Amino acid sequence: MSRKSIKVKLFFITISILVVAVILTASINILRFKAMYIEALLERARADANDMKQGISQGLNYFSLNNFSDMTTFLKKHLNEKFNYAFVADNDNKILYHTDPAQKEKQLQKIIYKDVVFDDKTNSHIVSTGEFYETVLPLIKDFTVVGTVHIGIEKKIVDDKVKEMIFQTVLILGFFIFLAVLIMYLFLKRNITDPIGRLERKTINISKSLNLPVYDEKRKGDEIEEFSNSFDKMTEEIEAKTLALEEDIERRKIVEQKLKESYEELEVAFEGSIKAIATAVESRDPYTAGHQQGVASLAVAIAKKMGFKEKHIRQIYFAAMSHDIGKIGVPISILTKKEKLTDEDFAIIKKHPQTGYEILAKVDFHWPLAEIVRQHHERINGKGYPQGLTGDQMLLEAKIIAVADVMEAISKARPYREALGNDVALAEIKKFRGEQFDPDVVDACVELFEKENFEFDNRKK
Ligand SMILES: [Fe+2]
Repeated sequence: MSRKSIKVKLFFITISILVVAVILTASINILRFKAMYIEALLERARADANDMKQGISQGLNYFSLNNFSDMTTFLKKHLNEKFNYAFVADNDNKILYHTDPAQKEKQLQKIIYKDVVFDDKTNSHIVSTGEFYETVLPLIKDFTVVGTVHIGIEKKIVDDKVKEMIFQTVLILGFFIFLAVLIMYLFLKRNITDPIGRLERKTINISKSLNLPVYDEKRKGDEIEEFSNSFDKMTEEIEAKTLALEEDIERRKIVEQKLKESYEELEVAFEGSIKAIATAVESRDPYTAGHQQGVASLAVAIAKKMGFKEKHIRQIYFAAMSHDIGKIGVPISILTKKEKLTDEDFAIIKKHPQTGYEILAKVDFHWPLAEIVRQHHERINGKGYPQGLTGDQMLLEAKIIAVADVMEAISKARPYREALGNDVALAEIKKFRGEQFDPDVVDACVELFEKENFEFDNRKK
């Protein structure tokens, strides 16, 4: 079945109802018209016949019916143009006078009293004789019926007239049908089909935009049916997708939770490894035991002061905790030497940032831990080691650890000297602020000690 628009359906339904109503009304009216017209014509014929009867009756005072001077002329004179013939017959049904001369002297056929209408007032009756309707009135002389006067009208004239009326009626009614259908069509289109069409198009657009497979180009129903189907399918799809989405979200939540737990476990393991390495390094160097812990506590405080995010702060903590890991390659004799270090000793010690880098670079941490460790003895004026980087080449994390490292090293005791205290250390970094050390890092560090009474945390954790 091909798709039929609801507009077309409504159009045909409306037309059908109107046509049936109009045909019924027209049929009744046409029958009434016909009856009325025949009645009117015959009434006229009856009146004319009556006039003739009166005229003939007066003439009968002077003539006999068989010897009536100018009777034919009289009949013709009184015959209305709408009527076909008139004649006078005697009591023996013989035609005495006729408007058609050829009919004179003819014997009337026996009247078929079918469809005869009697009129009590004029004593007339109307008969149907073959192709004619005929009005018949008795002619009376001296209270005696001496004959009859007849006036005829062709049935075809009546029928043609009726056909013409039917045609005109149908034409006028047809015009009104067309007008009514047009008005109803526009009304339905404006108030029903157009809004439904818009609703359907919106539904289809929504289903398309949501990637729901409900739009069918080969539609089979009308707009309401299609809209209803589209909507049902769309609702089902949305419900199914929502359910799937909820399940998916639930699964993702579980996966995320597991990932988070795994990550936390990894972090704990990593932190443990770093601490183990720091312990291993410091176990060879009792005089600097807790050094990395102390540097880490200050580096973290500086990073917080400078507004670093939590994740970044943890990275700085780990970097600080392992910054001297390269000292594992420095002989214990040099690390614990109480005498002045020779140039050879210094040359060996200066290798520890590169050694640390090489150890840590073997592990992919997704953040530059090895690079930070390699740069912790660099200075912004390019006079540090091992690469002699300048400020713009150094990582900010390395600049922070550099300051924290110097602060911790000066303020605490070393194998070759006593602890010098925070003030001496602060004086050192202030002295080289902007020359060896990043000014922002120095400012944050100074503020921590001078305004917030920062204290190193050298305790083993
Ligand atoms: Fe170092």
